[in-house]
Parts: sequence; C-alpha cells; structure tokens
Amino acid sequence: MMTVSPVAGALGADVRGLDLSRPLNSEQVAAIRRALLNHCVLFFREQPVLSVEQHSRLTRYFGELEVTPFQREGHDPTLLMIEQYDARLSRNSQGANFHSDNTFRPYPPMGALLQAHVLPERGGDTCFASMYAAFDGLSARMRAYLDGMEAWHSLEQMKSRLASTTGTKLSIDLDLWPPIKHPVVAIHPETGRKLLNVNYNWTTHLDGVPRAESDTILHYLFEHIRRPEFQARIRWNVGDIAFWDNRSAQHCAVADYEGRRVMQRLAIAGSPAFAVMPTEMLETAIAAQ
Ligand code: SIN
Repeated sequence: MMTVSPVAGALGADVRGLDLSRPLNSEQVAAIRRALLNHCVLFFREQPVLSVEQHSRLTRYFGELEVTPFQREGHDPTLLMIEQYDARLSRNSQGANFHSDNTFRPYPPMGALLQAHVLPERGGDTCFASMYAAFDGLSARMRAYLDGMEAWHSLEQMKSRLASTTGTKLSIDLDLWPPIKHPVVAIHPETGRKLLNVNYNWTTHLDGVPRAESDTILHYLFEHIRRPEFQARIRWNVGDIAFWDNRSAQHCAVADYEGRRVMQRLAIAGSPAFAVMPTEMLETAIAAQ
C-alpha cells in the first residue's frame, strides 16, 4: 500500500509502498498526482535503479516527455544524465542555485523525476523550496506590488554567468530561445493557489520598472526564496527518486561533495494546460461565474 509521509513544514513527502520499476495502475497514478499537488515534491525511497526505458514509462504516466534543451550528443534527447566528479566544478552550474527548470521556455516543464544512480561518500543533497510558502511569506505590501507584474526570463543570463565565472560556453543556440515574459505572481493551474514565479537562474528583470529597481527587488526575492522554513531537503540513497512540481517548487543541488555523483533525470513537457497563469485570469474566471 502507498504511504505518504510529510517531511517538512512547507513541502515534501516520503512515499513508500510502490515499486516504480513496474507498470502502475490508474489508481496509483492518480494517487501520486494528488500527493504531488499536495506536497510539491515527493521522495520515493528505496527504488530499484531504473533503466532509461523504465524511467521513461514512469514519467509518461504524468505527461509527454520534455526534449531537454541541454542535450548531450549521442544521448536520448529527453534524457539528462547529470554527472559531476567534484562539487567545486558545479558551484556555478544551473543546478547549484535555487531555480525552476527552463522558465526561458514559453511552457516550462510541468515537473521532473530525478533518480540517484551513483553518490559521493557524503554530501550532494538536493534542496527544494515551496513557492506557495515563499509567496505567503511576503509582506502584504510586497504581494500587492508584485501582483499583476511580469518578469523576463532568458538563457542569456546563464550564458554570461558561465562565461564570467568558469569560462564555460553554453552549448545552446540562444536564438532558439528568445527572452520571454511570465507573471511574477502566478496561479497554479491545478491547485488554484498563488505562488512566486521568479528564479535566480532564468529571471533577468521585472517588466515596466527601472533596471535598478528591478535588480533590487529580484535580489530581495531570490534571498527570500532561500529561507530555510520554505525548504525540504533530500539526503539521497542510491535508487531514491525525487518527483517535483516545477510550478510550485524550486530546487537546488548542494555543491558540497567530492567524488562522483550521477543522477538520471527526465522531465514532463510544459503545455498550456500545465502552465501557471497570471492572477487576473483567475479573477476574470471567478467574476464570470
Ligand atoms: C537539477 O537541477 O535538476 C539537478 C538537481 C540535482 O542534481 O540534485
């Protein structure tokens, strides 16, 4: 029997009693979906190490697979194998700061499933933060200031950070992903809850305010998102799988280890049905009822 045990105040639950290497029935899929919406990130403990085929079958229960923009030549385009040997090399990677995945896309992924395959002796945890809690934790005046505002998201920021800190070149054609605007305060399409929708990796600036004002506010928000009371943290065992809702949770790979760490990841493609919406859309819908 599937059991769901919350692990922290704001988000996160351990899930036991399922073998994710085997096909799931519709009740099990519905129960996982419900738990994900309630807890923002699920930690499936003690799973067999999944083949890419098993991992794809599992992910496809929840939607289409995302074709990752960060492809490695000769690899399945939906698969992201994250392999690091030394955390010092990953401190400036896209994973090492709190972020939502790929919000430079018009429809960012709905979620992702990440499994630990090889772990260092110690360290290499992943932290998650609830964007519902981050929104609720803002002052009423700040919530009112941000509501209705949009922010620009772009790959450009990652490109310049990588170049200036590590000399690494981003292997993606930026022209494929022109900057795009998303609402700063958004409504989750499935829970109807308000969430904070900016992230350090991809949000470049707030729309319609002077750049200095935008920089100051975003700096404040990125620090706010990192508050420990909004977080849950997984200390990995080989085989553990984290399944996060990319709308309501941000994540960050802790770059504190030495040794090899290999994680296998597949994501669920974004779509209009999965996308967060600006709050005025909900208000219009409520007014029309
Ligand atoms: C990611 O950002 O998807 C990677 C998280 C991790 O490696 O812990």
